[in-house]
Amino acid sequence: MLTVALPKGRIAKETLEIFETIFGDGFKFNDRKLILETSHFRFLLVRNQDVATYVYHQAADIGVVGLDTLEEQGLDVVRLLDLHRGVCKVSIGMKVGEKLDLTKPELKVASKMVNITKRYFEEHAVSVEIIKLNGSVELAPLIGLADMIVDVVETGTTMKQNGLEVVQDIMRSSTYLIANKNSYISKKDEVLDIYEKINRVIKAEQKA
Ligand code: PRP
Repeated sequence: MLTVALPKGRIAKETLEIFETIFGDGFKFNDRKLILETSHFRFLLVRNQDVATYVYHQAADIGVVGLDTLEEQGLDVVRLLDLHRGVCKVSIGMKVGEKLDLTKPELKVASKMVNITKRYFEEHAVSVEIIKLNGSVELAPLIGLADMIVDVVETGTTMKQNGLEVVQDIMRSSTYLIANKNSYISKKDEVLDIYEKINRVIKAEQKA
């Protein structure tokens, strides 16, 4: 039996669809239930930011989560497979027409993703003040809280509708299958079996 942590929402739905493609029907959570048990798997429905935590502590053997979240959290888990879903970017956004000038003193950057932000500016040897927000980050430059934001961009609609534009991409992200390091050894056969089955589905999609 493998325990699988899935983030509530679209990724959980898409992942369960992959399981249905492999094993047939029966991979649906019941109403507000947070646990789904099938003959070989126990699925847990958790918050996106908690998937890697469950896997890291071996409360789940495997999980599915965005690379952006993995990079932000830095928890030591095995990255098994890119599922080629949830493709997005982490980018720097500014008010339309403004230019990214890293030589400007006392730059302020608002973001939910403070670690990715910190790393990016350190790599570019720029000292900035990072303002941690928990959402609606696009507001920050509009009301003068920050000069720029670092945020997830999928369609670009949120930035556009708020008069912002991408001035620099930081990383590309997509959904990954991850595993707990111990489970990867102690449940190797089960983990590799599901890895191979999912990989086959993804490969077939890529070819189509
Ligand atoms: C993300 C991100 C942007 C938006 C980008 O937030 O913070 O606000 O999506 O998507 P778009 O480019 O397609 O407009 P999300 O909806 O994931 O909510 P969150 O703030 O709760 O993470």
